[in-house]
Amino acid sequence: MTEQRRPDGSLRHLLTLADLDRDEIESLLERAQHHVRRRGEPAPRSSVLTGVTIANLFTEPSTRTRVSFELAARRLGADVVNLEMQLSSRVKGESMLDTVFTLESLHVDVFVIRDAEAGVPALVADHVGPAVSVLSAGEAHLSHPTQGLLDALTILQRKGRCESLVVAIVGDIRHSRVARSAWHALRTLGVGELRLVAPPALMPAASEFDGCVRHESIEDGLRGADVVMMLRIQRERFADADIPAGDAYFQRYGLTSQRLALARPDAIVMHPQPMNRGVEIDSAVADGPQSVIRDQVANGVAVRMAVLETLASRPALRGA
Ligand code: NCD
Repeated sequence: MTEQRRPDGSLRHLLTLADLDRDEIESLLERAQHHVRRRGEPAPRSSVLTGVTIANLFTEPSTRTRVSFELAARRLGADVVNLEMQLSSRVKGESMLDTVFTLESLHVDVFVIRDAEAGVPALVADHVGPAVSVLSAGEAHLSHPTQGLLDALTILQRKGRCESLVVAIVGDIRHSRVARSAWHALRTLGVGELRLVAPPALMPAASEFDGCVRHESIEDGLRGADVVMMLRIQRERFADADIPAGDAYFQRYGLTSQRLALARPDAIVMHPQPMNRGVEIDSAVADGPQSVIRDQVANGVAVRMAVLETLASRPALRGA
């Protein structure tokens, strides 16, 4: 695994939450909370990253996440460039590194990378100069660290603590980097019980998600839950799976108001988006009083600001 820390122990890259300890996660979340503003208030602004250049390198189509990273960087005073590249897998590693070396010559200090295949963020991290940082914005089905942090922040804002909470992740967990990063963050924060709720074809291998409780029935999985995290079926990540389509999936696994009533009365409903209304979630629930989906979006910018500050606001980069 690529080392994410500098020799002095500070965080240089963020490719996964798997090896962050509780103090590191809590201090990132605390920093992020400083950047949270109520809707209607002016957005937070600072100049801590003035003079820092950040490149968003996305090879998967994504508007939402790219905009979130871009706003986070700009609100800290950084310069930002966005590159959306379609690379065939055969040439991906080399073309990615050629692009990265070009951008390094242009004084890019931080690379934010989203890619559908495993290993690209680490490949870049292993080849850049010592003052450069790499931040994963989503790697294959494996890791989406800023999403894991924003999900943890959203839960803590509503519930105050993780211990004793029952969190149910429902849907396509097998292909989900959101679920993996949520698990990394929540287990480190001491979550009471983490449930995986999915049909067998969308359940991860038994060797993964150590310590989680698995349910095939959504009713069993939701009973008594404090947090319900719904996931999209990531059809782009697999060809053949024995899963019911559209309406049939909604009948078995869709989150409706009736099913949500099985969870605790104060349960919150989350979704990383994009949502398929009427497939994994009913509109009445997505837009209902228990939904915190819009908070997740807002927290996304705050968390990305916190991570960018942590990785990049060091004296050497600012020419001090
Ligand atoms: C998620 C992703 O890209 O993994 N979306 C996101 O980051 N906003 C989830 C998804 O695509 O379903």
